[in-house]
Amino acid sequence: MTPSFRITLLPGDGIGPEIMAVTLDVLKQVGSKLDLEFTFQEALIGGAAIDATGGPLPEETLTTCRNSDAVLLAAIGGYKWDTLPRELRPETGLLGMRAGLGLFANLRPATILPQLIDASSLKREVVEGVDIMVVRELTGGIYFGQPKGVFTTETGEQRGVNTMAYTDGEIDRIGRVAFETAQKRGGKLCSVDKANVLEVSQLWRDRITALSEDYSDVELSHLYVDNAAMQLVRWPKQFDTIVTGNLFGDILSDAAAMLTGSIGMLPSASLGAEGPGVFEPVHGSAPDIAGQDKANPLAQVLSAAMMLRYGLNQPQAADLIETSVLSVLDQGYRTGDIMAEGATQVGCKAMGEVLLKALV
Ligand code: IPM
Ligand code: MG
Repeated sequence: MTPSFRITLLPGDGIGPEIMAVTLDVLKQVGSKLDLEFTFQEALIGGAAIDATGGPLPEETLTTCRNSDAVLLAAIGGYKWDTLPRELRPETGLLGMRAGLGLFANLRPATILPQLIDASSLKREVVEGVDIMVVRELTGGIYFGQPKGVFTTETGEQRGVNTMAYTDGEIDRIGRVAFETAQKRGGKLCSVDKANVLEVSQLWRDRITALSEDYSDVELSHLYVDNAAMQLVRWPKQFDTIVTGNLFGDILSDAAAMLTGSIGMLPSASLGAEGPGVFEPVHGSAPDIAGQDKANPLAQVLSAAMMLRYGLNQPQAADLIETSVLSVLDQGYRTGDIMAEGATQVGCKAMGEVLLKALV
């Protein structure tokens, strides 16, 4: 019987629709090649949803996502919506989706491809062979902690408040995902916190240390977040798997991404305890180049590969996509963000066309 999967597509804003179109073609071709049946349903999120419905995450979108096997998201946001009240901003839609689908574990790989080493701003010997997985907690910490808001004090001052909070249960469940991820990779886990200053981080460190008893095959270390940021750019090869909270993970995953030369190459997976995962590029909606056929679709295409691997358990299809991406890079095709001397510069659509040819 042909395995069949229902996939929700959320093209979102900016370059989102362009990179999603390329990825959809890739998925269709992979499906017909490997005899997988995909049903696609599209829904609104972010600015596109605001324009159409007045809010960044219509209830219908969440329902559509829940009724699918996996969700493929492109990117959200743009200048047009930046000045709206916070509850109406595109980012609020994204956070609402993470919370609504219970996606507490965010996996962000940063792998240096040999073909792109020279695109990195760091020296070849520093980045060659880097292969890091950042496991970021995604539905807790300061992004969601209460109280939050801007309050007026008794003296009439305005006071902005966010709360960084983690329960032991929240730490343990992301900790387990991280240890298990490390087991499948290089067997090293570095937990990042700010335990020298923050109580919430001390609890984080204590729980992760306690958990490590169940994972004797994983070598655990701890770093303060400031030092971790420094070590990432000083000698990134010391890292295998990193686990950290929501805010630190937001920052460190961007830094880790840039080691590879372009954030335009990196996919990510957001997973919950059950239900569909959301797979999306690490980069944003790049409104400055939207609609110009300049975007690099590869992070989106690689997100589809992550979806097949982690969300739909189709490793062969994931391998096929990843191999084709390497093959077009080997053939010298580059979008502007990863352009190198002697390479052939292509736009988003043309990159999609050479990818389809490579998918054999
Ligand atoms: C990310 C983004 C989001 C975040 C924004 C767009 C809300 O930076 O996915 O890393 O901060 O989580
Ligand atoms: Mg971010």
